[in-house]
Amino acid sequence: MLQGRRVLIGVGGGIAAYKVCQVISTLAKLGVEVRTVSTDNAQQFITPLTLATLSRHPVYTDDLFWQPSQYRPLHIELGEWAELMLIAPLTANLMAKLTHGLADNLLTSTVLASTSPILLAPAMNTDMWQQPSVQRNWQVLQTDLRYHAVSPGTGMLACDRVGMGRMAEPSEILTYLHSLLYTQGKRDLVGKHLLISAGGTREHLDPVRFIGNPSTGKMGVALAQAASHRGAKVTLVHAPMEPRLLSGLSGVRLLPVVSALEMRQAVLSSFSEADWIIMAAAVADVRPKEYYREKLPKRLLPDQLPLSVAPDILSELSQQKRSQQRLIGFAAQTGDIFTPAFEKLQRKKLDAIVANAIDQVDSGFGSDQNQAIFLDHEGRKVAIGQCSKLQMSHHLFDFIHTMSGRNY
Ligand code: CTP
Repeated sequence: MLQGRRVLIGVGGGIAAYKVCQVISTLAKLGVEVRTVSTDNAQQFITPLTLATLSRHPVYTDDLFWQPSQYRPLHIELGEWAELMLIAPLTANLMAKLTHGLADNLLTSTVLASTSPILLAPAMNTDMWQQPSVQRNWQVLQTDLRYHAVSPGTGMLACDRVGMGRMAEPSEILTYLHSLLYTQGKRDLVGKHLLISAGGTREHLDPVRFIGNPSTGKMGVALAQAASHRGAKVTLVHAPMEPRLLSGLSGVRLLPVVSALEMRQAVLSSFSEADWIIMAAAVADVRPKEYYREKLPKRLLPDQLPLSVAPDILSELSQQKRSQQRLIGFAAQTGDIFTPAFEKLQRKKLDAIVANAIDQVDSGFGSDQNQAIFLDHEGRKVAIGQCSKLQMSHHLFDFIHTMSGRNY
């Protein structure tokens, strides 16, 4: 999917330019063709040699712009070449130029000479970021559907301030770029609210012991990222998971829970306003009948653990579902993945189910990759070969888009 794709990276003059090196290096290693345009100010932070070495291609600078060696103007060539652009760091100055359509250097001229989607990653000092003029420009830019945004985060800045203005991390930028290469920038989920569940619930016996499962939540997080990149409003109800997985989810409403009962409550609280509900979480089927507030000493641990049934959230949602809502389940299976998934689709009265194999190498729990079969209530069956969980999420959204509502 990424081999030979063409990404143009415009580097602005800010200290966060060093983080762009990571983005360029990762893309180049994945086989993406990367070209870089460096502003005069950016060259004070990162040398053209660094960008050229990482991208395996000479850097384009304003010197080349004003002394064209080619027949066709450079900004036209580059603008037509790019399938996708990233501008990072987006400085306050570059932001102002883009807002007003100025074209006074190679980078801004290339932006206007191109129709590709553009991902913007601002970075600046907190006071600069909070200026009404900067905020105004940022809002205006985001009304232009061509521009996609990875908002800055809060943290320690190079100027020793702690506050908003820190450029998004390379991993978040890379994930967004992957989405844009898949979708070509389409925002077909604007106006939709997606309610997604993720991770493995924990059913505690006491504060330190629980019944759990190996789900890491990566699939649910990928669904939330992909949905938000396509313009959806997203609520993610998630069981405990590694905090770094949740760090690249700016704009997503996060509802952390621990147990199946808590997940049921959180999902139900957002259910009525959701358009698509995707239960990717591995919810426990049973829980210890009793919970001990204090840690049980080993000698008091029971020989046999009395259990009660955990609520089946998906089945309950299906009873309450309105006809225009779409309810999608996951079935993590071993061996024959089709038959049990099909049975769950019917038993839980779902619009669709994702049957995914958890006994394959590089697939399922904990992996960054997945493979699956999508089944819907009309009997459609689409097999998706091994791909990243982000890509799997996009395939699933394409599938849901072409699905009609069920009428049981
Ligand atoms: N699910 C749920 N509540 C539960 C258990 C599962 O909402 N208590 C949802 C999961 O999020 C998933 C789907 O149901 O979307 C399938 O889960 P699975 O555990 O495979 O289904 P079960 O009905 O428990 O089937 P099995 O007999 O295979 O355990």
